[in-house]
Amino acid sequence: MEKNQKQSNSVFIHLVVVLLLCSSSVSVSERIVPLLQSYEKPIFRSNFQTIYDTSKYGVFHLSNGLAQTPQMGWNSWNFFACNINETVIKETADALISTGLADIGYVYVNIDDCWSKATRDSKGQLVPDPKTFPSGIKALADYIHGKGLKIGIYSDAGAFTCQVRPGSLFHENDDADLFASWGIDYLKYDNCFNLGIPPKKRYPPMRDALNATGRTIFYSLCEWGVDDPALWAGTVGNSWRTTDDINDSWASMTTIADLNDKWAAYAGPGGWNDPDMLEVGNGGMTYEEYRAHFSIWALMKAPLLIGCDVRNLTAETLEILSNKEVIAVNQDPLGVQGRKVYATGKDGCSEVWAGPLSGHRLAVALWNRCSKVATITAPWTAVGLESGIRVSVRDLWQHKVVTTDAVSSFSASVNAHDSHLYILAPATPSYSVQ
Ligand SMILES: *[C@@H]1O[C@H](CO)[C@@H](O)[C@H](O)[C@H]1NC(C)=O
Ligand SMILES: *[C@@H]1O[C@H](CO)[C@@H](O)[C@H](O)[C@H]1NC(C)=O
Ligand SMILES: *[C@@H]1O[C@H](CO)[C@@H](O)[C@H](O)[C@H]1NC(C)=O
Ligand SMILES: *[C@@H]1O[C@H](CO)[C@@H](O)[C@H](O)[C@H]1NC(C)=O
Repeated sequence: MEKNQKQSNSVFIHLVVVLLLCSSSVSVSERIVPLLQSYEKPIFRSNFQTIYDTSKYGVFHLSNGLAQTPQMGWNSWNFFACNINETVIKETADALISTGLADIGYVYVNIDDCWSKATRDSKGQLVPDPKTFPSGIKALADYIHGKGLKIGIYSDAGAFTCQVRPGSLFHENDDADLFASWGIDYLKYDNCFNLGIPPKKRYPPMRDALNATGRTIFYSLCEWGVDDPALWAGTVGNSWRTTDDINDSWASMTTIADLNDKWAAYAGPGGWNDPDMLEVGNGGMTYEEYRAHFSIWALMKAPLLIGCDVRNLTAETLEILSNKEVIAVNQDPLGVQGRKVYATGKDGCSEVWAGPLSGHRLAVALWNRCSKVATITAPWTAVGLESGIRVSVRDLWQHKVVTTDAVSSFSASVNAHDSHLYILAPATPSYSVQ
Protein backbone atom coordinates (compact mmCIF):
# COMPACT_ATOMS: atom_id res chain seq x y z
CA MET A 1 0.00 0.00 0.00
CA GLU A 2 2.59 2.47 1.10
CA LYS A 3 4.93 1.30 -1.64
CA ASN A 4 2.27 1.77 -4.33
CA GLN A 5 1.65 5.24 -3.14
CA LYS A 6 5.36 6.04 -3.31
CA GLN A 7 5.50 4.70 -6.84
CA SER A 8 2.55 6.70 -8.02
CA ASN A 9 4.00 9.77 -6.32
CA SER A 10 7.23 9.38 -8.17
CA VAL A 11 5.46 8.84 -11.49
CA PHE A 12 3.50 11.98 -10.79
CA ILE A 13 6.67 13.94 -9.99
CA HIS A 14 8.28 12.77 -13.21
CA LEU A 15 5.23 13.85 -15.16
CA VAL A 16 5.32 17.26 -13.55
CA VAL A 17 8.99 17.64 -14.36
CA VAL A 18 8.41 16.64 -17.97
CA LEU A 19 5.49 19.04 -18.27
CA LEU A 20 7.49 21.87 -16.75
CA LEU A 21 10.34 21.17 -19.12
CA CYS A 22 8.01 21.20 -22.10
CA SER A 23 6.17 24.32 -21.11
CA SER A 24 9.23 26.38 -20.33
CA SER A 25 11.41 25.27 -23.23
CA VAL A 26 9.75 27.61 -25.69
CA SER A 27 10.27 30.74 -23.68
CA VAL A 28 13.86 30.02 -22.73
CA SER A 29 15.10 28.67 -26.05
CA GLU A 30 15.59 32.21 -27.31
CA ARG A 31 17.87 32.90 -24.37
CA ILE A 32 19.90 29.71 -24.70
CA VAL A 33 20.43 29.39 -28.39
CA PRO A 34 22.60 32.47 -28.94
CA LEU A 35 24.93 31.31 -26.18
CA LEU A 36 25.34 27.73 -27.28
CA GLN A 37 24.80 27.73 -31.03
CA SER A 38 28.40 28.65 -31.72
CA TYR A 39 29.49 25.31 -30.28
CA GLU A 40 29.09 23.53 -33.58
CA LYS A 41 31.40 22.17 -36.20
CA PRO A 42 33.94 22.77 -37.59
CA ILE A 43 36.00 23.20 -34.38
CA PHE A 44 33.74 21.20 -32.11
CA ARG A 45 32.93 17.58 -32.68
CA SER A 46 29.39 16.62 -33.51
CA ASN A 47 29.11 14.95 -30.09
CA PHE A 48 29.98 18.21 -28.29
CA GLN A 49 26.42 18.71 -27.08
CA THR A 50 26.40 15.14 -25.79
CA ILE A 51 29.60 15.53 -23.81
CA TYR A 52 28.41 18.83 -22.36
CA ASP A 53 24.72 18.13 -22.11
CA THR A 54 23.10 21.50 -21.53
CA SER A 55 19.53 20.41 -22.19
CA LYS A 56 18.39 21.77 -18.84
CA TYR A 57 20.64 24.88 -18.92
CA GLY A 58 18.62 27.97 -18.14
CA VAL A 59 15.36 26.04 -18.32
CA PHE A 60 14.63 26.75 -14.68
CA HIS A 61 15.71 29.94 -13.07
CA LEU A 62 14.53 32.20 -10.33
CA SER A 63 13.79 35.62 -11.74
CA ASN A 64 15.30 37.74 -8.98
CA GLY A 65 18.12 38.82 -11.28
CA LEU A 66 20.88 37.34 -9.08
CA ALA A 67 23.44 34.57 -9.61
CA GLN A 68 24.21 35.30 -13.26
CA THR A 69 27.56 33.80 -12.25
CA PRO A 70 28.21 31.68 -9.13
CA GLN A 71 28.23 33.62 -5.87
CA MET A 72 31.57 34.52 -4.26
CA GLY A 73 32.36 35.44 -0.69
CA TRP A 74 33.02 33.95 2.73
CA ASN A 75 31.01 31.90 5.22
CA SER A 76 31.74 31.49 8.92
CA TRP A 77 30.95 27.79 9.35
CA ASN A 78 33.91 25.76 8.09
CA PHE A 79 36.47 27.50 10.31
CA PHE A 80 34.53 29.02 13.22
CA ALA A 81 31.46 26.76 13.47
CA CYS A 82 29.48 28.16 16.43
CA ASN A 83 32.36 30.33 17.74
CA ILE A 84 31.24 33.56 16.09
CA ASN A 85 30.52 37.11 17.23
CA GLU A 86 30.17 40.55 15.70
CA THR A 87 33.88 41.27 16.17
CA VAL A 88 35.08 38.33 14.14
CA ILE A 89 32.55 39.07 11.38
CA LYS A 90 33.71 42.70 11.18
CA GLU A 91 37.38 41.69 11.22
CA THR A 92 36.65 39.26 8.40
CA ALA A 93 35.02 42.01 6.34
CA ASP A 94 38.10 44.19 6.99
CA ALA A 95 40.39 41.32 5.97
CA LEU A 96 38.49 40.67 2.73
CA ILE A 97 39.28 44.27 1.83
CA SER A 98 42.90 44.39 3.03
CA THR A 99 43.87 41.12 1.30
CA GLY A 100 42.37 42.29 -2.00
CA LEU A 101 39.94 39.35 -2.04
CA ALA A 102 36.89 41.62 -2.07
CA ASP A 103 38.26 43.43 -5.12
CA ILE A 104 38.40 40.21 -7.10
CA GLY A 105 34.82 39.23 -6.33
CA TYR A 106 34.52 37.78 -2.82
CA VAL A 107 31.80 40.16 -1.68
CA TYR A 108 29.33 38.16 0.42
CA VAL A 109 30.11 38.02 4.15
CA ASN A 110 27.86 35.18 5.27
CA ILE A 111 27.06 34.46 8.90
CA ASP A 112 26.14 30.80 9.38
CA ASP A 113 24.37 29.15 12.33
CA CYS A 114 24.57 30.44 15.95
CA TRP A 115 23.90 34.16 15.42
CA SER A 116 20.49 34.06 17.08
CA LYS A 117 19.21 33.63 20.62
CA ALA A 118 17.77 30.25 21.58
CA THR A 119 14.21 31.59 21.71
CA ARG A 120 12.05 34.07 19.82
CA ASP A 121 10.90 37.21 21.66
CA SER A 122 7.37 37.76 23.02
CA LYS A 123 6.24 38.99 19.58
CA GLY A 124 7.57 35.86 17.95
CA GLN A 125 10.56 37.56 16.32
CA LEU A 126 14.09 36.19 15.99
CA VAL A 127 16.60 37.97 18.20
CA PRO A 128 20.39 38.21 17.68
CA ASP A 129 22.28 36.55 20.54
CA PRO A 130 22.86 39.48 22.96
CA LYS A 131 26.18 38.06 24.20
CA THR A 132 27.83 37.59 20.82
CA PHE A 133 25.98 40.15 18.65
CA PRO A 134 25.19 42.88 21.22
CA SER A 135 24.97 45.64 18.57
CA GLY A 136 22.47 43.64 16.53
CA ILE A 137 22.52 42.50 12.92
CA LYS A 138 21.35 45.82 11.47
CA ALA A 139 24.46 47.58 12.79
CA LEU A 140 26.64 44.78 11.42
CA ALA A 141 24.91 45.02 8.03
CA ASP A 142 25.54 48.77 7.99
CA TYR A 143 29.21 48.18 8.78
CA ILE A 144 29.56 45.58 6.02
CA HIS A 145 27.66 47.70 3.49
CA GLY A 146 29.88 50.64 4.44
CA LYS A 147 32.82 48.62 3.16
CA GLY A 148 31.05 47.98 -0.17
CA LEU A 149 30.37 44.34 0.76
CA LYS A 150 27.16 42.34 1.14
CA ILE A 151 25.86 40.47 4.19
CA GLY A 152 24.39 36.99 4.35
CA ILE A 153 22.50 35.28 7.15
CA TYR A 154 21.38 31.77 7.96
CA SER A 155 18.15 30.08 8.92
CA ASP A 156 16.51 26.70 8.62
CA ALA A 157 13.44 25.25 6.89
CA GLY A 158 12.54 23.42 10.08
CA ALA A 159 11.50 23.90 13.69
CA PHE A 160 15.11 24.58 14.74
CA THR A 161 18.44 25.27 13.11
CA CYS A 162 21.07 22.52 13.28
CA GLN A 163 22.52 24.17 16.42
CA VAL A 164 19.01 24.34 17.91
CA ARG A 165 18.23 28.02 17.42
CA PRO A 166 14.67 28.85 16.26
CA GLY A 167 13.98 27.78 12.67
CA SER A 168 11.92 29.67 10.09
CA LEU A 169 9.42 26.96 9.11
CA PHE A 170 5.94 28.53 9.43
CA HIS A 171 7.62 31.89 10.25
CA GLU A 172 8.75 32.59 6.69
CA ASN A 173 7.05 35.96 6.26
CA ASP A 174 8.05 37.39 9.64
CA ASP A 175 11.64 36.26 9.29
CA ALA A 176 12.01 37.42 5.68
CA ASP A 177 10.61 40.83 6.67
CA LEU A 178 13.06 41.03 9.57
CA PHE A 179 16.02 40.06 7.37
CA ALA A 180 15.00 42.64 4.76
CA SER A 181 14.60 45.32 7.45
CA TRP A 182 18.18 44.64 8.57
CA GLY A 183 19.47 44.95 5.00
CA ILE A 184 20.31 41.28 4.49
CA ASP A 185 21.48 40.37 0.96
CA TYR A 186 21.75 36.56 1.14
CA LEU A 187 20.01 33.73 2.98
CA LYS A 188 21.42 30.23 3.45
CA TYR A 189 18.47 28.01 4.37
CA ASP A 190 19.30 24.72 6.11
CA ASN A 191 17.41 21.44 6.57
CA CYS A 192 17.57 20.34 10.23
CA PHE A 193 14.49 19.50 12.37
CA ASN A 194 12.36 19.47 9.23
CA LEU A 195 9.45 17.48 10.75
CA GLY A 196 9.61 15.05 7.85
CA ILE A 197 7.94 17.52 5.49
CA PRO A 198 9.41 17.21 1.97
CA PRO A 199 11.85 19.95 0.85
CA LYS A 200 9.61 20.76 -2.13
CA LYS A 201 7.00 21.93 0.38
CA ARG A 202 9.34 23.69 2.81
CA TYR A 203 11.62 25.71 0.53
CA PRO A 204 9.20 27.60 -1.80
CA PRO A 205 7.42 29.51 1.02
CA MET A 206 10.69 31.26 1.92
CA ARG A 207 11.28 32.10 -1.77
CA ASP A 208 7.88 33.78 -1.83
CA ALA A 209 8.44 35.49 1.51
CA LEU A 210 11.80 36.89 0.39
CA ASN A 211 10.28 38.04 -2.89
CA ALA A 212 7.40 39.73 -1.06
CA THR A 213 9.82 41.89 0.94
CA GLY A 214 10.74 43.69 -2.29
CA ARG A 215 14.43 43.44 -1.32
CA THR A 216 16.63 41.44 -3.68
CA ILE A 217 18.01 38.61 -1.54
CA PHE A 218 20.14 35.73 -2.81
CA TYR A 219 18.41 32.46 -1.83
CA SER A 220 20.79 29.56 -1.14
CA LEU A 221 19.05 26.22 -0.56
CA CYS A 222 20.76 23.75 1.73
CA GLU A 223 18.65 20.58 1.74
CA TRP A 224 21.86 18.47 1.41
CA GLY A 225 20.84 16.99 -1.95
CA VAL A 226 18.36 14.65 -0.26
CA ASP A 227 15.55 15.20 -2.75
CA ASP A 228 17.67 15.73 -5.91
CA PRO A 229 17.17 19.52 -5.85
CA ALA A 230 18.74 20.03 -9.30
CA LEU A 231 15.47 18.61 -10.65
CA TRP A 232 13.23 21.22 -9.00
CA ALA A 233 15.17 23.92 -7.15
CA GLY A 234 15.92 26.13 -10.14
CA THR A 235 12.58 27.87 -9.77
CA VAL A 236 13.01 28.04 -6.00
CA GLY A 237 16.54 29.26 -5.25
CA ASN A 238 19.72 30.71 -6.76
CA SER A 239 21.79 27.69 -5.71
CA TRP A 240 21.10 24.34 -4.15
CA ARG A 241 23.39 22.07 -2.18
CA THR A 242 23.76 18.72 -3.93
CA THR A 243 25.47 16.82 -1.09
CA ASP A 244 26.07 16.46 2.63
CA ASP A 245 28.45 18.87 4.35
CA ILE A 246 32.03 18.98 3.14
CA ASN A 247 34.83 18.41 5.67
CA ASP A 248 38.49 19.38 5.46
CA SER A 249 39.77 16.12 3.94
CA TRP A 250 40.74 14.71 0.56
CA ALA A 251 38.15 11.93 0.97
CA SER A 252 35.31 14.36 1.53
CA MET A 253 36.34 16.79 -1.21
CA THR A 254 36.72 14.10 -3.90
CA THR A 255 33.47 12.33 -2.93
CA ILE A 256 31.55 15.58 -3.12
CA ALA A 257 33.05 16.55 -6.48
CA ASP A 258 31.84 13.26 -7.97
CA LEU A 259 28.35 13.57 -6.47
CA ASN A 260 27.96 17.13 -7.71
CA ASP A 261 29.14 16.16 -11.21
CA LYS A 262 25.98 14.14 -11.79
CA TRP A 263 23.85 17.30 -12.00
CA ALA A 264 26.02 19.32 -14.38
CA ALA A 265 23.33 19.61 -17.06
CA TYR A 266 21.07 21.56 -14.68
CA ALA A 267 23.38 24.46 -13.83
CA GLY A 268 23.27 27.80 -15.59
CA PRO A 269 22.96 31.56 -15.07
CA GLY A 270 20.40 32.13 -12.29
CA GLY A 271 20.86 28.76 -10.55
CA TRP A 272 23.90 26.70 -9.57
CA ASN A 273 24.68 23.30 -8.12
CA ASP A 274 26.36 23.82 -4.75
CA PRO A 275 28.90 21.20 -3.63
CA ASP A 276 29.43 23.22 -0.40
CA MET A 277 31.91 25.81 0.75
CA LEU A 278 35.66 25.82 0.27
CA GLU A 279 38.02 24.21 2.78
CA VAL A 280 41.11 25.84 1.20
CA GLY A 281 43.35 27.14 3.99
CA ASN A 282 41.94 25.07 6.85
CA GLY A 283 44.94 22.77 7.12
CA GLY A 284 43.50 19.29 6.46
CA MET A 285 44.75 19.01 2.87
CA THR A 286 48.06 19.64 1.12
CA TYR A 287 48.80 22.61 -1.13
CA GLU A 288 48.26 20.37 -4.20
CA GLU A 289 44.97 19.04 -2.85
CA TYR A 290 43.68 22.53 -2.13
CA ARG A 291 44.73 23.64 -5.59
CA ALA A 292 42.75 20.71 -7.04
CA HIS A 293 39.77 21.56 -4.80
CA PHE A 294 39.80 25.17 -6.02
CA SER A 295 40.36 24.22 -9.70
CA ILE A 296 37.51 21.72 -9.77
CA TRP A 297 35.10 23.94 -7.82
CA ALA A 298 35.85 26.76 -10.28
CA LEU A 299 35.34 24.48 -13.29
CA MET A 300 32.09 23.05 -11.83
CA LYS A 301 30.69 26.57 -11.52
CA ALA A 302 30.38 26.02 -7.79
CA PRO A 303 29.82 28.94 -5.45
CA LEU A 304 33.26 30.16 -4.31
CA LEU A 305 32.65 30.74 -0.63
CA ILE A 306 35.88 30.90 1.35
CA GLY A 307 35.70 28.80 4.53
CA CYS A 308 38.92 29.66 6.35
CA ASP A 309 40.04 32.48 8.65
CA VAL A 310 40.78 35.30 6.21
CA ARG A 311 42.27 37.37 9.04
CA ASN A 312 45.19 34.94 9.10
CA LEU A 313 45.93 33.60 5.61
CA THR A 314 49.19 31.96 4.62
CA ALA A 315 50.81 33.14 1.39
CA GLU A 316 49.93 29.79 -0.22
CA THR A 317 46.26 30.04 0.73
CA LEU A 318 46.03 33.59 -0.55
CA GLU A 319 47.75 32.56 -3.78
CA ILE A 320 45.15 29.83 -4.38
CA LEU A 321 42.10 31.87 -3.46
CA SER A 322 43.20 34.90 -5.44
CA ASN A 323 44.11 33.18 -8.71
CA LYS A 324 42.22 35.49 -11.06
CA GLU A 325 42.56 33.23 -14.06
CA VAL A 326 40.92 30.34 -12.21
CA ILE A 327 38.22 32.65 -10.87
CA ALA A 328 37.55 33.84 -14.44
CA VAL A 329 36.75 30.23 -15.42
CA ASN A 330 34.21 30.10 -12.58
CA GLN A 331 32.73 33.48 -13.48
CA ASP A 332 32.68 32.95 -17.26
CA PRO A 333 29.43 34.43 -18.65
CA LEU A 334 28.52 31.26 -20.57
CA GLY A 335 27.89 29.55 -17.21
CA VAL A 336 28.08 25.94 -18.37
CA GLN A 337 29.20 23.56 -15.61
CA GLY A 338 32.39 21.64 -16.42
CA ARG A 339 32.37 17.92 -15.80
CA LYS A 340 34.42 14.73 -15.71
CA VAL A 341 34.81 13.68 -19.34
CA TYR A 342 37.56 11.05 -19.31
CA ALA A 343 39.44 8.80 -16.90
CA THR A 344 42.34 6.40 -17.34
CA GLY A 345 44.89 4.67 -15.10
CA LYS A 346 44.36 2.50 -12.05
CA ASP A 347 40.69 2.74 -10.98
CA GLY A 348 40.35 5.62 -13.46
CA CYS A 349 42.33 7.88 -11.14
CA SER A 350 43.89 9.97 -13.97
CA GLU A 351 40.97 12.26 -14.68
CA VAL A 352 40.15 14.87 -17.29
CA TRP A 353 37.46 17.39 -16.39
CA ALA A 354 36.39 19.99 -18.95
CA GLY A 355 33.79 22.56 -19.82
CA PRO A 356 33.03 25.09 -22.56
CA LEU A 357 33.79 28.78 -21.99
CA SER A 358 32.68 31.86 -23.86
CA GLY A 359 34.71 32.81 -26.93
CA HIS A 360 35.03 29.29 -28.37
CA ARG A 361 37.34 28.24 -25.55
CA LEU A 362 37.49 25.18 -23.33
CA ALA A 363 38.60 24.88 -19.72
CA VAL A 364 40.39 21.58 -19.13
CA ALA A 365 41.58 20.20 -15.78
CA LEU A 366 44.02 17.30 -15.57
CA TRP A 367 43.36 15.90 -12.09
CA ASN A 368 45.62 13.21 -10.69
CA ARG A 369 43.69 11.31 -8.04
CA CYS A 370 46.29 8.51 -8.01
CA SER A 371 48.89 8.30 -5.26
CA LYS A 372 51.89 8.77 -7.62
CA VAL A 373 52.88 11.34 -10.23
CA ALA A 374 51.24 10.56 -13.58
CA THR A 375 51.15 11.80 -17.14
CA ILE A 376 47.54 12.62 -17.98
CA THR A 377 46.32 13.06 -21.55
CA ALA A 378 43.25 14.91 -22.73
CA PRO A 379 42.43 13.58 -26.22
CA TRP A 380 40.39 15.94 -28.43
CA THR A 381 37.82 13.13 -28.87
CA ALA A 382 37.18 13.21 -25.12
CA VAL A 383 36.96 17.00 -24.69
CA GLY A 384 34.83 17.53 -27.79
CA LEU A 385 37.29 19.07 -30.27
CA GLU A 386 37.67 17.95 -33.88
CA SER A 387 40.88 15.95 -34.12
CA GLY A 388 42.55 18.24 -36.68
CA ILE A 389 42.02 21.37 -34.61
CA ARG A 390 45.14 23.20 -33.43
CA VAL A 391 44.89 24.95 -30.09
CA SER A 392 46.94 27.10 -27.78
CA VAL A 393 47.07 25.92 -24.18
CA ARG A 394 47.38 28.33 -21.25
CA ASP A 395 48.26 26.97 -17.80
CA LEU A 396 46.22 28.93 -15.24
CA TRP A 397 48.48 28.01 -12.30
CA GLN A 398 51.78 28.74 -14.07
CA HIS A 399 50.18 31.81 -15.67
CA LYS A 400 51.65 31.15 -19.08
CA VAL A 401 50.93 29.67 -22.49
CA VAL A 402 52.62 26.26 -22.54
CA THR A 403 52.06 25.55 -26.26
CA THR A 404 50.45 27.36 -29.16
CA ASP A 405 50.33 24.25 -31.27
CA ALA A 406 48.59 21.28 -29.67
CA VAL A 407 46.89 18.91 -32.13
CA SER A 408 44.68 15.90 -31.35
CA SER A 409 45.57 15.77 -27.63
CA PHE A 410 47.35 17.52 -24.78
CA SER A 411 49.34 15.84 -21.98
CA ALA A 412 51.13 16.91 -18.83
CA SER A 413 52.83 15.32 -15.88
CA VAL A 414 50.73 15.99 -12.77
CA ASN A 415 51.81 15.35 -9.17
CA ALA A 416 49.76 13.07 -6.94
CA HIS A 417 46.46 14.71 -5.90
CA ASP A 418 47.27 17.90 -7.83
CA SER A 419 45.18 19.35 -10.64
CA HIS A 420 46.40 21.54 -13.45
CA LEU A 421 43.87 23.84 -15.05
CA TYR A 422 44.16 25.05 -18.63
CA ILE A 423 42.29 27.10 -21.18
CA LEU A 424 42.36 25.70 -24.71
CA ALA A 425 41.73 28.24 -27.45
CA PRO A 426 41.63 27.27 -31.14
CA ALA A 427 44.65 28.66 -32.96
CA THR A 428 42.85 28.48 -36.31
CA PRO A 429 42.65 32.22 -37.13
CA SER A 430 38.97 32.46 -37.98
CA TYR A 431 38.06 30.79 -34.69
CA SER A 432 40.52 32.52 -32.41
CA VAL A 433 39.46 34.08 -29.14
CA GLN A 434 37.15 37.04 -29.62
C1 LIG B 1 34.91 36.40 18.96
O1 LIG B 1 35.16 35.20 18.23
C2 LIG B 1 36.52 34.94 17.96
C3 LIG B 1 36.60 33.74 17.06
O2 LIG B 1 36.00 32.63 17.63
C4 LIG B 1 37.28 34.76 19.29
O3 LIG B 1 38.65 34.56 19.01
C5 LIG B 1 37.10 36.00 20.14
O4 LIG B 1 37.67 35.77 21.40
C6 LIG B 1 35.62 36.34 20.31
N1 LIG B 1 35.50 37.63 20.95
C7 LIG B 1 34.68 37.85 21.94
C8 LIG B 1 34.66 39.24 22.47
O5 LIG B 1 33.98 36.97 22.41
C1 LIG C 1 9.74 38.70 -7.35
O1 LIG C 1 9.32 37.79 -8.35
C2 LIG C 1 9.00 38.41 -9.59
C3 LIG C 1 8.39 37.36 -10.51
O2 LIG C 1 9.08 36.16 -10.46
C4 LIG C 1 10.24 39.04 -10.16
O3 LIG C 1 9.96 39.66 -11.39
C5 LIG C 1 10.75 40.05 -9.17
O4 LIG C 1 11.98 40.61 -9.64
C6 LIG C 1 10.99 39.42 -7.81
N1 LIG C 1 11.35 40.44 -6.85
C7 LIG C 1 12.34 40.28 -5.99
C8 LIG C 1 12.55 41.42 -5.06
O5 LIG C 1 13.03 39.29 -5.91
C1 LIG D 1 34.69 13.55 6.18
O1 LIG D 1 34.06 13.04 5.01
C2 LIG D 1 34.50 11.73 4.66
C3 LIG D 1 33.92 11.40 3.29
O2 LIG D 1 32.57 11.65 3.22
C4 LIG D 1 34.08 10.76 5.75
O3 LIG D 1 34.52 9.46 5.41
C5 LIG D 1 34.69 11.20 7.08
O4 LIG D 1 34.20 10.40 8.11
C6 LIG D 1 34.35 12.66 7.36
N1 LIG D 1 35.12 13.10 8.51
C7 LIG D 1 34.59 13.76 9.52
C8 LIG D 1 35.54 14.17 10.58
O5 LIG D 1 33.41 14.02 9.57
C1 LIG E 1 47.29 31.75 12.14
O1 LIG E 1 47.41 30.54 11.41
C2 LIG E 1 48.47 29.69 11.85
C3 LIG E 1 48.49 28.48 10.92
O2 LIG E 1 48.56 28.88 9.59
C4 LIG E 1 48.24 29.27 13.27
O3 LIG E 1 49.33 28.47 13.71
C5 LIG E 1 48.10 30.50 14.15
O4 LIG E 1 47.72 30.09 15.44
C6 LIG E 1 47.01 31.42 13.60
N1 LIG E 1 46.97 32.66 14.35
C7 LIG E 1 45.86 33.13 14.87
C8 LIG E 1 46.00 34.43 15.60
O5 LIG E 1 44.78 32.59 14.75
